[in-house]
Amino acid sequence: MSVNRQILFASRPKGWVTEDNFRLVESPLPAPAEGQVLVRNHWLSLDPYMRGRMDEAKSYAKGAELGQVMVGGTVGVVLESKSPKFKSGDWVVGALGWQEYAAADAAALNRIDTAIAPASCYLGILGMPGVTAWMGLLDIAQLKPGETVVVSAASGAVGSVVGQLAKIQGCRAVGIAGGRTKCDYVVGELGFDACVDYKAGRLYADLKAAAPAGIDVCFENVGGEILDTELRLMNAFSRITVCGLVSQYNVTEPYPMKNLHSVLINRIRMQGFIVSDRLELWPRAIGELAGWLQAGKLKYRESVAEGLERAPAAFIGMLKGENFGKQLVRLV
Ligand SMILES: NC(=O)c1ccc[n+]([C@@H]2O[C@H](COP(=O)([O-])OP(=O)(O)OC[C@H]3O[C@@H](n4cnc5c(N)ncnc54)[C@H](OP(=O)(O)O)[C@@H]3O)[C@@H](O)[C@H]2O)c1
Repeated sequence: MSVNRQILFASRPKGWVTEDNFRLVESPLPAPAEGQVLVRNHWLSLDPYMRGRMDEAKSYAKGAELGQVMVGGTVGVVLESKSPKFKSGDWVVGALGWQEYAAADAAALNRIDTAIAPASCYLGILGMPGVTAWMGLLDIAQLKPGETVVVSAASGAVGSVVGQLAKIQGCRAVGIAGGRTKCDYVVGELGFDACVDYKAGRLYADLKAAAPAGIDVCFENVGGEILDTELRLMNAFSRITVCGLVSQYNVTEPYPMKNLHSVLINRIRMQGFIVSDRLELWPRAIGELAGWLQAGKLKYRESVAEGLERAPAAFIGMLKGENFGKQLVRLV
């Protein structure tokens, strides 16, 4: 236990990320300073936003720095504490990056309760993705019972929660996902009313059939052709919550939108949001999500890569849709 393995951000991708953009290194175990704790990370979260951090372009957050440990959410156990906030053995969630150990300020970590749910859930359904679904649907879109919600990347970490929350709120939930297997899971296991396989080549016709009363809330995770098609089916005074545009993260030429006139003629409210903008809502969101999870009203699925060295390949795979549910890396 004297060596820390880390994955550094080695070079900027142009278009698609490659494994060469990362470098695995070994370094001495860090020592916590006063006010810090030493954490053994057990789980690393892989998320689409990390692709944006690898670019130099202006964004809502500062980019990752070349030569530094790649940024990322983590769950782990405190091994040594120099802070009154934690004792050794505590489970914590934070953003300690792609590494096995970290010395971190206690103020930047939160304790998690593994009696409520397994530790990995605090990177998924009870973590940032779950809160994103809750905030985008209930706060930003102001969902009302009886409405039709369409969510893209529906089997993924955020999308899977969006549709289940829509059902809990008494709405019609329609997913869009890649492939029959994911769509069958979204309907059969998660309880959505319908799911459209965008890879089947009949996106507009299938979405129209799945949302016969039109779309009241579009929870957008993908963008590009999917968003452009949804625009053709939006109702008057509907809302589009722009959560993510994952189809556009690795392209050099953005998809040219053709149907923006729908925003005008349907008086659509289209709003982007970033989940970290409203930190004051997180405790309430996590509390409600935990309640529904414990009551058996929310289900989740995880794709787990084994070992830090597999993180780059798993990250690239997730951006290509190879994950099925929340993409994680098991570090212990
Ligand atoms: N605004 C915020 O604060 C916030 C916070 C968290 C996440 N997000 C965004 O939410 C979205 C979902 O994130 P997540 O963590 O839940 O990831 P995820 O859905 O678990 O994984 C990404 C999924 O995107 C889909 N995808 C990738 N390329 C695609 C393409 N060209 N066309 C259609 N689908 C494609 C794939 O699903 P298929 O196999 O179905 O294609 C893939 O599984 C992302 O856009 C992310 O940036 C935003």
